[in-house]
This record gives sequence, C-alpha cells and structure tokens, in this order.
Amino acid sequence: MKTYALVTGASSGIGECFARALAARGKNLLLVARSAEKLEALARDLAVRHSIEAEALPADLAEPGAASHLAMSIFSRGFAVDLLVNSAGFGAQGKFWEIPLERHAQMLRLNVQALVELCHLLLVGMLERKGGTIINVSSTASFQPLPYTSSYAATKSFVTSFSLGLAEELRPCGVKVITLCPGPTRTRFFEAGQYRTIRMRGKLQAPEEVVEAALKRLDRGGLVLCRWLDKALVFMERFLPRAIVTRGAAELFKP
Ligand SMILES: NC(=O)c1ccc[n+]([C@@H]2O[C@H](COP(=O)([O-])OP(=O)(O)OC[C@H]3O[C@@H](n4cnc5c(N)ncnc54)[C@H](OP(=O)(O)O)[C@@H]3O)[C@@H](O)[C@H]2O)c1
Repeated sequence: MKTYALVTGASSGIGECFARALAARGKNLLLVARSAEKLEALARDLAVRHSIEAEALPADLAEPGAASHLAMSIFSRGFAVDLLVNSAGFGAQGKFWEIPLERHAQMLRLNVQALVELCHLLLVGMLERKGGTIINVSSTASFQPLPYTSSYAATKSFVTSFSLGLAEELRPCGVKVITLCPGPTRTRFFEAGQYRTIRMRGKLQAPEEVVEAALKRLDRGGLVLCRWLDKALVFMERFLPRAIVTRGAAELFKP
C-alpha cells in the first residue's frame, strides 16, 4: 500500500527541512501550511527531484475545525498516512496582557488543538495498520515557564507532556511517538513571533540538525533533545528552585 508522510508547517523552517529530508529518503508527502504557492512549488520540486508523490494541502490550522477538515479531505482522497509530523506553530514575545487575546487564542488552537486533533484523527489508520510514527515538534521552552512568552512556553509544555504520555499508551500498538524539543533554531520563528531579544544570536542551530536528530530516532521514538547543552540545561533545571529558573528565563526574554 502506498503511504504518505503528512508534514504541517512545511512551507518554512523545521517543517520544510522535514519535507526535504523525507523526500530524499523516498517518502511520499502531504504538505500543509497557509502559503499555498510556496507549498505547491516545494511539492513540485521534491516530486521531480526524488521521484516521489508530493501534494500541497494548504490550510490555516489555527481556524476552528481546520484539522478535521484536512483529515476528511485526506481520507476522502484515499491517502494512507503512516508518518505525521506536527511542526506548524508560532510564539509571541511581550507582556502577556499587551499581546492581543486573539493572538494567544490562535496560538493555542495551532500549537495545541490542531496538533491533538491531527494525532487523534490520523491515529485511526495507523492503529488499523498496526504501525506508524508521530513526530510532535515541542521545544526546550516546554521544560520551564518562560516569562514574556508565557503562553507559548505553556503550549509547548502541553505538547511535551501529551506526547510522552501518548507514546506510553501506544507502546503496545506498534505506533511510535517522537517528542522533538529543539532549542533556538535558525528559522523564521523569531520574526514571526516578533521576538526582539538578541541574547540568542550566535547560538542558533540549523534546522537540518534538528531534523537529523529526530530522524535518527524514527524506529524507536522517544524524547529528542538535539544538543548536549540543551540536555545539560534541562537536566540541571530539575534540581534548581523553580523561582530562580523562572527569574533567569525572564532576564533572557524581557523585551
Ligand atoms: N525556531 C526555533 O527556535 C524553535 C525552537 C523550538 C521549537 N520550535 C518549534 O518548531 C516548529 C516550527 O517552527 P520553525 O522554527 O520552523 O518556524 P517557521 O520557520 O516560522 O515555520 C513555522 C511553520 O508553521 C506554519 N504555520 C504558521 N501558522 C500556521 C497556521 N495558522 N496554519 C498552518 N500552518 C501555519 C508556517 O507556514 P505559513 O506561514 O505558510 O502558514 C511555517 O511553515 C514550531 O512548532 C515551533 O514552535 C522552533
């Protein structure tokens, strides 16, 4: 049976790198994001270059009901998805009350609700076929509160907790879950979220590095922290008082 990888956020950054890396491995692709023209150009290019099937499925996943609509169109066209990469997401920097409420709501719908809905809807086929993999792109932001980007960090805490729990539930079913937690990565993310902090410049990793770390774990699933520095920080934070960690993070993200 012909199977596909569905990659959300495929028009840019980590999602686009996933699309390119999977195409190079001969995987058929369904590409999702809002930028239809970019997706279509990428799908055409990857299909020709790697002799795969690639379809652009433009969608605004922050719209209520968009994930269900997308899943319905995938089912009705007979695409069997055995790899789901949930990479679409954004953050926002600033004082919580100065960021418009609708921006927070969009972030919750995209980073949390659409991700949960796609996992739920696409798992049905994976469970029937007794196999598949879900890669949920979380963040090192998920391991502690991040003042001045509080709601973003909380969405990623949800993604990490949800994905680790789901992985355990799925252990006997042949479906793997990778909880991918990149640190600061060189993509459009910082512009899109209007991050004004410059403290991270020079410390950004390449999105290809992030994708490679995840794909190495494709057969096993699990929690993926990409760099030794991220692993060390996440480990050490567990032994420090929460207030101190939160105050340190505030210094980093204060606009
Ligand atoms: N970059 C980092 O430092 C970093 C670190 C840790 C985790 N992450 C996570 O990595 C993931 C990917 O981010 P990135 O760094 O690759 O940033 P990016 O370059 O800004 O990519 C974000 C992707 O999400 C898509 N997207 C945004 N809003 C959407 C919507 N409403 N509906 C559908 N697609 C939407 C964008 O495409 P369109 O604009 O075309 O819709 C784009 O393809 C995010 O979940 C982010 O939280 C990033």
